[in-house]
Amino acid sequence: QSVDAEISAIIAEHLSLEGPLLPLLHGLQEVFGHVPVAAHGPICAALNISKAELHGVLSFYHDFREAPAGRHVVKICRAEACQAMGGAALAESVLAKLGLDWHGTSRNGAVTIEPVYCLGLCACAPAVMVDDRVVGRADAAKLDALLAEAGA
Ligand code: FES
Repeated sequence: QSVDAEISAIIAEHLSLEGPLLPLLHGLQEVFGHVPVAAHGPICAALNISKAELHGVLSFYHDFREAPAGRHVVKICRAEACQAMGGAALAESVLAKLGLDWHGTSRNGAVTIEPVYCLGLCACAPAVMVDDRVVGRADAAKLDALLAEAGA
């Protein structure tokens, strides 16, 4: 089945729902690991929304990816407690080191860096999450080790 056919099938599956957009985007992401750009046109046509509206939704919900993720996803907490404990500087240095923006994936495809807004680990701020492992009291050395382990 071609990607286009698969996209059309997923769109068709969700059209009868009330408020189909979010479930539809989740459906696409489940199948492809991201919301393919090739789906944007068909989604807008099927739901009669503009590209700007779709982009607004995609960027509002941090869960949706517009490109495939790396093999590992590193989430860095950007909520208040972690920011206050050096999380912002930590995030900046990681992004600078890898030459990435938020949501970016390292050139070798090993890691994607994403923001997250509180991991419930505020007492051990700053907190990060590597795949499904949460790590508290993160600092540059710890993150370097985690990134090296992830192959970045
Ligand atoms: Fe970062 Fe709560 S603010 S874990």
